[in-house]
Amino acid sequence: MKPKSLLYEGKAKRLFETDDPQILWVEYLNQATALNGARKDAMDGKASLNNEITALIFEQLKRANLQNHFIKKISKCEQLVEKLEIIPLEVVIRNISAGSFAKRLAIPEGKPLEFPVLEFYYKDDDLDDPFINDDHVKILNLASNQEIERIKNEAYKINKALSILFEAIDIRLVDFKIEFGRRADGTVLLADEITPDTCRLWDKQTDEHLDKDVYRRNLGDLVPVYQEVLNRLNKRFD
Ligand code: ADP
Ligand code: TMP
Repeated sequence: MKPKSLLYEGKAKRLFETDDPQILWVEYLNQATALNGARKDAMDGKASLNNEITALIFEQLKRANLQNHFIKKISKCEQLVEKLEIIPLEVVIRNISAGSFAKRLAIPEGKPLEFPVLEFYYKDDDLDDPFINDDHVKILNLASNQEIERIKNEAYKINKALSILFEAIDIRLVDFKIEFGRRADGTVLLADEITPDTCRLWDKQTDEHLDKDVYRRNLGDLVPVYQEVLNRLNKRFD
């Protein structure tokens, strides 16, 4: 299989059509962005780390019967995925207060939450991805009641599976963002990526940030931190 026409170039990856209309060729990019792309830096080594990390995680989720778009990794920075109709929602689950949640609700960063908090953000760059609720999802015709239920159920299950996976490598899963898409037959399944770009990961012993906050907050070099996450995953799962 070969990449054909470029379908989409985003902040973290490029998507190409292939000979098979149901399969996309995804190329991860060596760049980091923050503030909805307003800040952007080249970052050698990031693409292969995220490609490997998300491939490994999506494979583990499949083993746990959590359906997702991942097909296979084809090179250091590339993978094949099922082409889906993306539901324009960023689904965030939070286990510990941090980031925008800590700021908006004045709940100190680091405070464990009594139960996982699920949030929806409308994926729309022009609107700056606003925080929305279920009624907004319906008014905007983004997803049906049934799809909202499926997305929530899957998100909570993914949270459980990921929390266990990271716990095993001495990392606390603080929060993460996922996206879902529809197959032609209407099945809703997990898409996009799960990487240190899209999760907050804190070292269990030291609370050190092992995620994109290193870049967002100018805490040091991002690549060695992502490498540490991959090393721990490889040690556990290879
Ligand atoms: P952004 O769009 O935020 O800049 P990316 O660079 O990660 O982010 O772009 C990847 C795009 O591909 C995202 O908009 C995402 O919704 C979309 N996408 C992810 N998985 C699939 C899939 N399986 N089918 C179609 N589109 C996908
Ligand atoms: P937040 O605290 O900034 O709202 O972020 C919550 C989680 O979602 C965090 O793990 C980072 C992730 N995230 C993304 O992956 N993409 C985004 O555009 C945003 C705003 C957050």
